[in-house]
Amino acid sequence: MIEQRPAPYTDVAPSAAVSAAAGGGPGRRRRHVLDLDDYAPAEIEEVLSTAEAMRGILARPIKKVPTLRGRTVVTLFYEASTRTRVSFEMAAKALGADTVNISASGSSVEKGESLLDTVRTLRALGADTVVMRHKSAGAPYLVASEINASVINAGDGWHAHPSQALLDLFTVRSHLGRLDGLKVVLLGDVLHSRVARSNLWGFTHMGAQVVLCGPPTLLPPASFGCDGLPWPATVEYRVDRALEGADVVMALRLQTERQAAGLLPSVREYVHQYGLTEERLAMAKPGALVMHPGPMNEGIEIDTAVARGVQSVIEEQVTNGVAVRMALLYLLSGLSADQARGA
Ligand code: CP
Repeated sequence: MIEQRPAPYTDVAPSAAVSAAAGGGPGRRRRHVLDLDDYAPAEIEEVLSTAEAMRGILARPIKKVPTLRGRTVVTLFYEASTRTRVSFEMAAKALGADTVNISASGSSVEKGESLLDTVRTLRALGADTVVMRHKSAGAPYLVASEINASVINAGDGWHAHPSQALLDLFTVRSHLGRLDGLKVVLLGDVLHSRVARSNLWGFTHMGAQVVLCGPPTLLPPASFGCDGLPWPATVEYRVDRALEGADVVMALRLQTERQAAGLLPSVREYVHQYGLTEERLAMAKPGALVMHPGPMNEGIEIDTAVARGVQSVIEEQVTNGVAVRMALLYLLSGLSADQARGA
């Protein structure tokens, strides 16, 4: 497992060999969803169009189909979550799967059981899909190599949160009708944000331009003067320049729990320089979408008036999480469309 360390972004990127273990690619069924870095645009397109069909199911009076009847989805969360854990559970239930929720507190993890022993127990109990969140970057890759169930990364350290990025892509496309050619600004604490990293891959794979904006201490190390980022994004320290012509502005949570001391002069200074206010939003394109992965620190990275304003799609992001996670569970199941219809 890769231990969480403060600086190097590139260290948390999986090796090609580990990525290959996730499966996917043209004509191959993906076994795991670990990040979006190894997704082809056609695969992302498949998730988004499947999520559209799932949204149709959720709009019915009876929001449930028996597609995954007899299958078991386990959520294994070593870190706190509201949106991700609940929406995966709702998604699994909407598809007729059985669900089991395990959190570190209250499980044998408290008695010292290791991650791998926990996973071997789940394997012995017949889990088909394990949705997991862990504080260590790389933990889901380790689990994926140990279990014959599918693994979905629901957030690992600072590294990745692929289902969040997919629901963000889905939300943007639902509103703007496309992803190609959009200017997407990820604003704030990029350094500690697994959401930023997965969104960066997702949006750029689909042809959008991603701009990372924040104080130098909260941006990837390459922005300190190395030659270019390890990703296809640009960095802008000045928020007015970053927001100019933006189609989408995603404010990121200031992750005070992950901050090493001394990265910011003060929270007040950060709010003054980088908080998303109505005045700053006016620098983006008229009608630009306001997003936030949640949970929000209102009044810090985003003003309440912006978070609840007419341009905000923040609640919709949460709602769309269920349809997108249904799509992931269905696509990992390996069922053909005919099998799913006949289920
Ligand atoms: N966006 C997100 O991961 O939220 P939760 O921590 O509530 O799951």
